[in-house]
Amino acid sequence: MKVGFIGAGKVGCSLGKLFAETQHNLTGFYSLTSSSAESAADFTNSTYFQNLEDLIQDSDTVFITVPDDAITAVWEQLKHMSIAGKMICHCSGSLSSEIFRDIKETGAYGFSVHPLLAVSDRYTSYQELPKALFTIEGDESHISDIEALLHASDLQSARISADVKTRYHGAAVLCSNLVVALVQAAGDELRICGFSEEQLADAIAPLLLGNVNKVLSIGTKAALTGPIERNDVGTVKKHLDTFEGIDREIYKVLSKKTCEIANKKHPETNYEALEQLLNS
Ligand SMILES: NC(=O)c1ccc[n+]([C@@H]2O[C@H](COP(=O)([O-])OP(=O)(O)OC[C@H]3O[C@@H](n4cnc5c(N)ncnc54)[C@H](OP(=O)(O)O)[C@@H]3O)[C@@H](O)[C@H]2O)c1
Repeated sequence: MKVGFIGAGKVGCSLGKLFAETQHNLTGFYSLTSSSAESAADFTNSTYFQNLEDLIQDSDTVFITVPDDAITAVWEQLKHMSIAGKMICHCSGSLSSEIFRDIKETGAYGFSVHPLLAVSDRYTSYQELPKALFTIEGDESHISDIEALLHASDLQSARISADVKTRYHGAAVLCSNLVVALVQAAGDELRICGFSEEQLADAIAPLLLGNVNKVLSIGTKAALTGPIERNDVGTVKKHLDTFEGIDREIYKVLSKKTCEIANKKHPETNYEALEQLLNS
């Protein structure tokens, strides 16, 4: 299977590099800016295409790795080309293959293929890809070919339904980008307490990493500790009286979710007073 990429950004370069190194099946890159496609082709030892139609002609499978907002515009160009029998993929987490409108009439097969990973660099992130789970959905008649393509590069995949993609992507944001915001909130409060920038990372590392590792190994219920699990209403009230603005809101909302876990962990404990405080 020969694979070509439209969009020579972070995901295009990373996935292209992996395919080139593991399967030697990469045709090359077409991109908005010719210098991007040229350097991606250099990096992956493949071809730089000046013309989109040439890339399509040389590839059996095409990955559209452009920003989500540009996928439809690229598809509108592709659907008028000779694409019968080809597999067309995009890598968006929130969009499904249904974005490829009228694909049946073209004879091509559409898929979304999403790596559950923050891909931050064009030239180094490919090393991280084998750790990521790829969720895929699309044309049932050829989805096993996409699975085979990923597995041949030692990538793990799982199928997902098109109709849950927005929820799935929101969940991924919860455990990645929003964790960044949570760490920012904790850092902002610790700065008010007098912590220096140099101290911050070392101070929170054992808490943050210890919790993440525990949650991943024993689950949320077993990993939970702290004032909410202990039903310590007085302490939670003092925290709420101290925090202001958005940090207070974050603390309150996440405490309600923490209460749900505590209730499951200790069904014998009455958390009603705590819940009332958090809902007030
Ligand atoms: N980055 C992540 O963490 C991540 C993770 C999972 C999935 N994704 C998904 O992967 C896709 C690509 O994201 P990315 O992070 O790789 O984006 P990116 O780094 O911004 O790269 C996008 C590339 O597409 C090119 N491009 C833009 N419009 C185009 C058009 N109309 N025709 C051809 N090329 C065009 C860009 O232009 P130039 O040619 O000017 O460079 C750039 O090279 C998105 O669907 C995103 O949701 C991203």
